[in-house]
Amino acid sequence: MRIDVVTIFPEYLAPLDLSLIGRARAAGILDVAVHDLRTWTTDRHRTVDDAPLGGGAGMVMRPEPWGAALDAVLAAGRERLGDPDAVPHLLVPSPAGTPLTQAGAEALAREPWLAFACGRYEGIDERVLEEAATRMPVTPLSLGDYVLGGGEVAVLVVVEAVARLLPGVVGNPHSLVEESHAPASGGLLEPPVYTRPASWRGREAPPVLLSGHHARVARWRRDEQLRRTAARRPDLLARLRPQDLDAADLAVLAQEGWSVRDGALVPASPAPVRH
Ligand code: ADE
Repeated sequence: MRIDVVTIFPEYLAPLDLSLIGRARAAGILDVAVHDLRTWTTDRHRTVDDAPLGGGAGMVMRPEPWGAALDAVLAAGRERLGDPDAVPHLLVPSPAGTPLTQAGAEALAREPWLAFACGRYEGIDERVLEEAATRMPVTPLSLGDYVLGGGEVAVLVVVEAVARLLPGVVGNPHSLVEESHAPASGGLLEPPVYTRPASWRGREAPPVLLSGHHARVARWRRDEQLRRTAARRPDLLARLRPQDLDAADLAVLAQEGWSVRDGALVPASPAPVRH
C-alpha cells in the first residue's frame, strides 16, 4: 500500500519509522512518503494560512499550496505505482468528519493508495476538498468527538489501524480475529487477559483459566465480554440481536440488568418516579 501524508509538521510523523509500521515499510508492504506543505508555497514567508472569509476566530489554510501539493502527490504516486490513471483515496482528518470505525479501517486496508491532508488551525479552504473530489475519492475522517490541534496525530492513528490489517504486518493473524471491534467478537469488547504468575501481590488469576477446560474457558471469556460491554459500552449491547445470544448469554445480561423486550436488548427500566 502506498501512503502519502501532506503536513506542515513532517517531524510529527516520525513515529511512522518505528515498530509495526517501520517493519512493514522495511518489508516493502507499506510505501510511505511524508511531504512538507510549505514546499508548495511561493512567497518569502512560506505562508500557508490566512484569515477566514466572513470573519471569525483563527486562521484557514489557503488553497494554493494545497492544490499544488495534491497535484505533485498525484503525479509522484502514479509514477511510483507505474499506473498513469491511479488515484489515491484522500483522507482529511477533521473533528467534522465521519467517525473512523474498525469496519472503516478494514475498508481502507483494501485500498492500494491513501493520501492524507493534515489541516491545522481552523481547517483547509473547502474548495481544496471540492476540487480534489473531481479527481479522487475524498473522505473527511474523525477520530472521535473531541478536538485535536491538527490532523497529524489522527494520521498516526489511522495508519496504525489500517497497516496492522495488511497481510504480513501482524505476526500472528489470529490475534486480529477476536479483538474488540473485530467482526468475530460479535460486537462485544474483548475479555480481560492474564499471564503468569498465577498469584501476584495476593491477587489470583481466575482459576478457570488454569483448568485446561476449553469449553469452560470459552464460556468464562464470553461472560466477561458481556459484563464488560454492559458496564463500559451499553451502546454496543443495544445493537446486538437477541437471536444471536444463547440462554447463558441472556442469563449473564439479566444479572447486569438487561432484558429482551420487543425483539431488542434493553437496559432495566429505571424505577418509576414517585410523586
Ligand atoms: N483534527 C482535529 N480534531 C480531530 C479529530 N477529532 N479527528 C480527526 N482529526 C482531527
